[in-house]
Amino acid sequence: MPMTTIGELARQHTDLSKEQIGHLVNLASEWGMLADVCFADLLMYVPVEGDNWLVLAQVRAATGQTLYLADWVGSQTSSVERPLLAAATKSGVPCEGEIFIQGVVEDCRMMAIPVQFEGEVIAVLTREWSQHTGRQPGELERTYLEIFDRFAEMIVRGAFPFVGRVADSSVAPRVGDGAIVLDADARVRYASPNATSALHRVGISANAVGQTLSELGVIDSSVRQAFERREPVVEEFEQTSEVTLLTRCIPIVDDVDGESVVTGAVMLLRDVSELRRRDRLLLSKDATIREIHHRVKNNLQTISSLLRLQARRLESPEAKAAVAESVRRIRTIALVHETLSREPGDDVAFVEIVRPLLRLVEESLQSPERPMRFMVIGDGGRLAATVVTPLSVVLTELLQNAVDHGFPEGDGSGGGNVAVRLQVEESELLISVIDDGRGIPADFKLADAKGLGLSIVRTLVTTELAGTIEMRPAHAEELAEVEFVPRDGNTGTVILLRVPLQSD
Ligand SMILES: Nc1ncnc2c1ncn2[C@@H]1O[C@H](COP(=O)(O)OP(=O)(O)OP(=O)(O)O)[C@@H](O)[C@H]1O
Ligand SMILES: [Mg+2]
Repeated sequence: MPMTTIGELARQHTDLSKEQIGHLVNLASEWGMLADVCFADLLMYVPVEGDNWLVLAQVRAATGQTLYLADWVGSQTSSVERPLLAAATKSGVPCEGEIFIQGVVEDCRMMAIPVQFEGEVIAVLTREWSQHTGRQPGELERTYLEIFDRFAEMIVRGAFPFVGRVADSSVAPRVGDGAIVLDADARVRYASPNATSALHRVGISANAVGQTLSELGVIDSSVRQAFERREPVVEEFEQTSEVTLLTRCIPIVDDVDGESVVTGAVMLLRDVSELRRRDRLLLSKDATIREIHHRVKNNLQTISSLLRLQARRLESPEAKAAVAESVRRIRTIALVHETLSREPGDDVAFVEIVRPLLRLVEESLQSPERPMRFMVIGDGGRLAATVVTPLSVVLTELLQNAVDHGFPEGDGSGGGNVAVRLQVEESELLISVIDDGRGIPADFKLADAKGLGLSIVRTLVTTELAGTIEMRPAHAEELAEVEFVPRDGNTGTVILLRVPLQSD
């Protein structure tokens, strides 16, 4: 692969300094407009060993036909083949003449413009075109070509590209979007058909020529700034409530008795109303998603109410318990949705979900003979909504188990404690649910657990969340850390979940 960026090519084949290369890079980032106003291909040549010239960069006009279907960047020509390059360098002024291009029969011409930087010609910019495929000369063509000549003069003097800060021109409008040429008094000298149409859309149908933009009623701060600061200014503004214009104003600077004077400007403008309308739609899509969360939450609440009604009509205690469990699971999901619907983004601080979740479990499981204490320790950071929902369901099951199995009703235990510990370690979220209850049966194997609760936990953690589960008797230090002192005979249980967090 040959190197194709200006910097790489220049470093490899020339002795140009960093600053000189920077000047050429700046020129290439600005010259799309120049190609457009001269309706021709532009090439940038630098002298290399053996009286040869290397093509550093090439650009085609969006307004005219190209001479070159091929990309010449990286290729070389000689001073014999292209004598204008050396002539322009030597004389320090633009030189024009005929050139012969292999495969092109018509008369082709080249204008070679010496690129000056700090008193030295460091490259030659050429305009290369065919006299036969050119456009019919009209007012637009005449005006644009004159503008090109004025920028060419600036290049020769080293006044173009503008030094320093180059406003990002990649988003800026191009000549074809609409161009207004201003004179030294910032009065319109010429407005291209597309510029005229854009002005029409904002209700300006008067002939713009001879008037300033502010007289026309166009917001003109980019023009004023460009004239004052003598550098290009990009600005976007809402010209009317319907029309948003993106403008870039490039001043034309002349040298008058050794002083830089702005003698005109080119203002490129594009109607970006449609783009901005879409941006706004995207914004309100965010609001729509929030509304959907809200509705999902309401629907889930309706479902859980229906189930509760149904449970009341059931006779069998087992069936009643089963439906009550479903109600609890649904309420968990509803709770997550409620929290998500309040959040602007698509992630949420996990603790904000865990706390109300604990309260929910507390409310539904608390009984006077079995008082339970719940607590949260640590912080899980912000998690994506897609992770939060399954995690919440998992957590609800684990809390329910801690209460159900750690402190079975009627064992006269008098309740106990449950802690949820959140911790982010490297790119993993660690969640431990610790209870100081009676502990898991000796022969208990997680993989063999048949209950629905742990099945849900296993499925969600291992598949949806790509995490792992560990379930074991609590270590003494784990209980001490949460200040649990289990009653005699209780070993306590720890369920430890590890969930990988996407690093983005
Ligand atoms: N914190 C805990 N302490 C003691 N034993 C537990 C604990 N968590 C789970 N177990 C054991 O694991 C078994 C399986 O739990 P699982 O949640 O899958 O089913 P379940 O709670 O019996 O029924 P459900 O489907 O209603 O949740 C329990 O029966 C219990 O023996
Ligand atoms: Mg269970």
